[in-house]
Amino acid sequence: MKTVLSVVGARPNFIKIAPLARAFKKYRKEVKHLLCHTGQHFDQRMSEIFFDELQMPRPDFNLGVGGGSHAEQTARIMLELEKVLLAERPDLVIVPGDVNSTLAAALVASKMGIPIAHVEAGLRSFDKSMPEEINRIVTDVVSDFLFVTEHSGMHNLRDEGMDDNKIFFVGNTMIDTLESHYEAIESCDITGRLKLDKGRYVVSTFHRPSNVDDRESLTSLMETLGRVAKERRLVFPVHPRTRKNIREFGLEDKMPSGLLLTEPMGYIEFLSLMRYAELVITDSGGIQEETTYMGVQCITVRRNTERPVTIDVGTNHLVGVSMEKVEKAAMDILGGTTKPGRIPELWDGKAAKRIAAIIMDHKE
Ligand code: UD1
Ligand code: UDP
Repeated sequence: MKTVLSVVGARPNFIKIAPLARAFKKYRKEVKHLLCHTGQHFDQRMSEIFFDELQMPRPDFNLGVGGGSHAEQTARIMLELEKVLLAERPDLVIVPGDVNSTLAAALVASKMGIPIAHVEAGLRSFDKSMPEEINRIVTDVVSDFLFVTEHSGMHNLRDEGMDDNKIFFVGNTMIDTLESHYEAIESCDITGRLKLDKGRYVVSTFHRPSNVDDRESLTSLMETLGRVAKERRLVFPVHPRTRKNIREFGLEDKMPSGLLLTEPMGYIEFLSLMRYAELVITDSGGIQEETTYMGVQCITVRRNTERPVTIDVGTNHLVGVSMEKVEKAAMDILGGTTKPGRIPELWDGKAAKRIAAIIMDHKE
């Protein structure tokens, strides 16, 4: 019996690993799939809610590391995870995405000689000022299976001299989760509860340090969203990092009317909110992909994206961080200048099944 251990820590990790946990059930006679939660995200609405909604197994291990500086958080995960790996001696460690939990787990496993599978390998923003870019590069270097979501990932890994035998173009497990919950998403009544007209409101999320940690940037971002909110109602479920900064910068009392700030939402409600939106304005990684899959217009407020397929094939508009440009792009889209999109190759709901089959077929 093989043991495979997946390590998750942050909101997008849960959504990416849920279908894989399900896919391994098919092989339960041959493989034991264990789940380790680092505790990087810990609020009920950033963590537990996804385990409930996505019917994920409860974590077998919870490291409870919480927040901290990058070094503190990464180091704490490494120290605690080493104990788990020493006790369980898994045959493979699976790490999704690009967060500190991904990097920390990959480093510990590689030093212990345990093979690693990286789900969502090869994405590159080519911007090393993003903590995620460092996490992606280092994780890919030490991984033995590189599971790729889009063609750019294949090119990037080959350009970096990765062994072709390690690279597998499998599709996108985040889209597996979306595809398998689509009925619930379409029938959820979040628009009714928030009294929104379907197809005539805007959704926003922001949490990148470059947008929300600086007083001036966050202030002008909120002012810009406030101006968009004069045209259409705008719903903004606020990430804990952003909430903290909105409070600290004294922006709470200055919120324009029409702009509805909420707690972070559960998966089904949030995806339903996006499904019926006219426009999403965000700096999230995963949301660029989900809007492309659903054919919803998305403005990405960043200088670059590690997910170029959402621009080339999908409905994503990468507009940079100038607030004039963001406002103009939003007004243009609300005025009808939209971009048609298609669903990228292999974003078909079967990525996790492909990954599990490749892992199970692999002969050392
Ligand atoms: C992390 C990831 C980022 C990812 C995002 C997804 C890193 C370096 N960053 O950013 O790539 O896009 O998750 O959401 O791994 N906090 C709470 N409650 C929570 C979670 C966080 O209060 O449930 C607080 C933390 O204590 C900390 C801050 O929010 O003060 C930031 O959390 P952290 O996990 O360090 O980074 P994120 O901004 O969430
Ligand atoms: N998400 C959610 N509720 C919210 C905001 C986001 O369920 O209030 C989902 C979103 O649809 C996507 C994932 O969380 O599936 C993305 O997480 P986030 O934007 O925090 O991380 P990133 O993708 O930028 O790393």
